[in-house]
Amino acid sequence: MLHSKLPDIGTNIFSRMTALASECGAINLSQGFPDFPAPQALREAMARHAMHGHNQYAPLAGLPALRETLASQLVNDRGVDCDPDTEITVTPGATVAIYCAITACVHPGDEVIVLDPCYDSYEPAITLSGGRAVHVPLDAQTFTPDWDRIESAVNPKTRLIIVNSPHNPTGAVLSRHDLRCLETLATRHDLYVISDEVYEYLVYDDAAHHSVLQLEGLRERSFAVFSFGKTLGVTGWKTGYCVAPPALTSELRKIHQFVCFVAVTPVQQAIADFLHSLPGYPGQLAEDYQARRDRFCSALAGSRFRLRPAAGTYFQLLDYRDISDQPDTVLCETLARQHGVACVPVSVFSQSPDPEQRLLRFCFAKQDSQLEEAAQRLCRI
Ligand SMILES: Cc1ncc(COP(=O)(O)O)c(C=O)c1O
Repeated sequence: MLHSKLPDIGTNIFSRMTALASECGAINLSQGFPDFPAPQALREAMARHAMHGHNQYAPLAGLPALRETLASQLVNDRGVDCDPDTEITVTPGATVAIYCAITACVHPGDEVIVLDPCYDSYEPAITLSGGRAVHVPLDAQTFTPDWDRIESAVNPKTRLIIVNSPHNPTGAVLSRHDLRCLETLATRHDLYVISDEVYEYLVYDDAAHHSVLQLEGLRERSFAVFSFGKTLGVTGWKTGYCVAPPALTSELRKIHQFVCFVAVTPVQQAIADFLHSLPGYPGQLAEDYQARRDRFCSALAGSRFRLRPAAGTYFQLLDYRDISDQPDTVLCETLARQHGVACVPVSVFSQSPDPEQRLLRFCFAKQDSQLEEAAQRLCRI
């Protein structure tokens, strides 16, 4: 019997809830992917490049045309200068970028601070590198970091801290002040930072996304990770990228080379074409998603769920404390089987979930008809 390196890991909750949704015919608001088509020009470009373009390996770092387009986007949208040759690496999804960045930083015995609730791909990568994830909870009400508490978890073994904004599963967004606190902490204790910014363009109510790339003290020690799956609505294309200073990028690429070597060529060509001809597209996304969030929240106005509209991402949390005392994992199953709506329990994102917390995560990157029908079913509970 193979001695497992990840004995506690099973099938992830998103796949399990999606399978349950299809088993019982429930509306699937569990997994984070749009159920409406990606832009036609993007899909056409992909078909064109697969038919007529290059279908062989791209350069290891990613197609130069795409990296140059991304460098321009970073200047225009974030005011950040970076060298596409030495600081941008295109990867098969943000997951691979995160895996490579963690592998580059973490040596056996190192500790990595993660903020709970947190996305599920971080800890297994830390474990596989022989490191230990140290879980520090975010504030249970606002999901903001408690920087004093985080600092008290730092010790000489701490090598890295991972942050995620806009945040999956809570929809919370880090403020400029939070990033300054992170900068002070990381500089004082000489920590590396991985900043998972895959939902960077999904920030609502006229708030701004703040990137680690925008603060000098963070820029020099951070890997910032992005996903076209989220920004262009093509999660199945599994393509993302990582921006990091040259010395960090060079270590990341050594690992990327042997994890996957390259990202998919015609996908990169299609994205390069699309972003080159429509550079304003990502910046306009928030308006559409905010309208979806608002329609979903308004349709739930008559329900017994409590909610605070998500500040970012395409996830809306619903608090069911007035409806049930059951654990969220149990209620999720009941909702799918008996009420025909699949969602995700928030407790699975934490090592030690708050026993008082009664939260479910719903993805609102769905067509209006689905959101309306789901809300009607939820209102009947
Ligand atoms: C916070 C977060 N990080 C990373 C990813 C992975 O992105 P990708 O599909 O590009 O690997 C996801 C996907 O759901 C996510 O929610």
